[in-house]
Amino acid sequence: MTTPTAPNELEERLIDHIGRYGPITFEAFMEAALYDEHLGYYPSRRRQPGSAPVGTDGDYFTSPVTHPAFGALLALQLREMWQRLGSPGEFVVVEMGAGDGVLRTDITEYTERELPDFAKAMQYVATDLVPPAGSESVAGTDELPTGITGCVVSNELLDAHPVNRFIIQAGSVREIFVDYRDGTFVEVVQDVVEPEVEARVLPFVRSLPDSYRGEVNLRLGYWSDSVSATLDSGYVITVDYGFDRPDLYAPTRLLGSLRCYYQHTLGQDPLRRIGKQDITAHVDFTAVDHTLAVNGFTRVANTTQSEFLMNLGIEDFLSDVGERPVRKELSRLEFEEETAGIGALIDPEGLGRFRVAVHSRGAASGLEIKREQVAGHTGLSGLDGGPSLAAGHAAPLLQTATADHARLLRAGNPFSQSRPQIENMPTWEQLFSDEP
Ligand SMILES: C[S@@+](CC[C@H](N)C(=O)[O-])C[C@H]1O[C@@H](n2cnc3c(N)ncnc32)[C@H](O)[C@@H]1O
Repeated sequence: MTTPTAPNELEERLIDHIGRYGPITFEAFMEAALYDEHLGYYPSRRRQPGSAPVGTDGDYFTSPVTHPAFGALLALQLREMWQRLGSPGEFVVVEMGAGDGVLRTDITEYTERELPDFAKAMQYVATDLVPPAGSESVAGTDELPTGITGCVVSNELLDAHPVNRFIIQAGSVREIFVDYRDGTFVEVVQDVVEPEVEARVLPFVRSLPDSYRGEVNLRLGYWSDSVSATLDSGYVITVDYGFDRPDLYAPTRLLGSLRCYYQHTLGQDPLRRIGKQDITAHVDFTAVDHTLAVNGFTRVANTTQSEFLMNLGIEDFLSDVGERPVRKELSRLEFEEETAGIGALIDPEGLGRFRVAVHSRGAASGLEIKREQVAGHTGLSGLDGGPSLAAGHAAPLLQTATADHARLLRAGNPFSQSRPQIENMPTWEQLFSDEP
């Protein structure tokens, strides 16, 4: 429950709407809080230059912003995917939910510098529902291409989708709505309005204790349809935090996975700071599989980010960076900054435990995806391991990257377990703890 304060303009609108029509679903509330055209979190932050939601001065960090090694290793994986498709003359990478375009810059720069054969074939289209004002590198979703051969990539897109919330009461699935009473926004519990919310949770109800809460993302079908319209043949790489459904709705996750981020502080009250804080929920990767399967995609694999990046050869980047101070190419502080960034990407307690899901759809355009003929192999190094794709390639550096990355050490490194506590900064463990 929130302390009564004078409502801001977005809150006024919600109060007015609730006054006329009654309590709204959490999905409708989250849609307004994050994406209201004028007052929602993303549009209002993206309209003002220098107030990006992601990064040191924002509310949270993501992998692309943490170190350019993330984009470089993805570039190596994309090149191998291109080869698996028979090295077509044109391979289009479409990034959805590209935010400020950091990943785009890192992937294209690395490809041009280190992978000249692939650079000739790769085109990169970065899109976002809320592109930054005046951005030339990130387009709106109305500019999504159709019928491409290539790969659709996203990082932390699906956790930003508005979700419905449920609560278990006396063995039944009920829905949490948002109401406005006595000067504050409050949760109210009512019967479920969308049958799909109940259908998703019903198989688990018997094992869930009373008052158990969780979320259901009903928007994944739209996402899958837009992936399908965009991608004719090729791969889908989805990086995000989440679980397969039995783990997402595990009885121990009593309060669900809804989280709020405000100035690098983790919160669990979405009814505060409406339009000023980010709200996310863990991704149901079973739903990702199902919605993509409807469009003819199959899951190639789903692994952790740590394993994916290790398989691609992130350790070769660390070794390369380790030699730079000896060659006087990096100062001690610069070296520490580079290794803190790269290390954070594979931290098993942090970004390293994000999931990387890969799906594929083959022959629609006549191009066959060539898989290894060995059982259990996907033909993709990030998933199978084997020789490092990064070997022999220079590591990308924070020092020389064009895109704006976070400097974790200067930011009081929220990823470091040993970092002294900074006021209002949760530990990295608290930030990404899956425990309620
Ligand atoms: C958590 S941010 C991640 C940004 C970026 N990918 C990164 O890793 O730094 C989520 C992004 O998804 C965008 N987004 C949310 N819903 C979307 C949709 N349906 N289509 C495209 N972008 C969307 C938001 O505007 C926001 O930029």
